[in-house]
Amino acid sequence: MSGAGAAVARAAEEGPLPDPAGLRAIITPLASMPGALLPVLHAVQDALGYVPESALPLIAEVLNLSVAEVHGVVTFYHWFRRSPRGKKILRVCRAEACQAMGANALVAAAETRLGVALHDTRADGTVTLDPIYCLGNCGCAPAVMVDDRVYGRVTPERLEEILLAEGLA
Ligand code: FES
Repeated sequence: MSGAGAAVARAAEEGPLPDPAGLRAIITPLASMPGALLPVLHAVQDALGYVPESALPLIAEVLNLSVAEVHGVVTFYHWFRRSPRGKKILRVCRAEACQAMGANALVAAAETRLGVALHDTRADGTVTLDPIYCLGNCGCAPAVMVDDRVYGRVTPERLEEILLAEGLA
């Protein structure tokens, strides 16, 4: 799909567009800050839960930037979510101890089982799959977290049990 086609498809997935007046009210007070783009993107994500593709032209206009510049920053930082958060969030720890104990296999298993890529939300809106960097549970690596519940010593098989228990399988 072309870049423009992908943008249209993503916009169609977003649902209703953010209210432009509300969006402008978020952006404008921050617009005069030096390096305003990052604070604006954080504020938009705090308010909406993500940074909709459809918000980028207004952000660009208010900050006197090109849409391409705004898009480049949003896509560079994985922190900025480009789709709404799911009802539940599965986070797989990818910090050192968990990496050493098989976190990559857990990510692959979660992506396959949930049908969603890391950093993204499943099409039905039930779950978002995110990385996290240390849950303070290194002694029981590898670790995952579903919403605020931490699980340790997670194998792909145990992940399946967790997903079932969490109503995600
Ligand atoms: S590295 Fe994963 S919990 Fe600390």
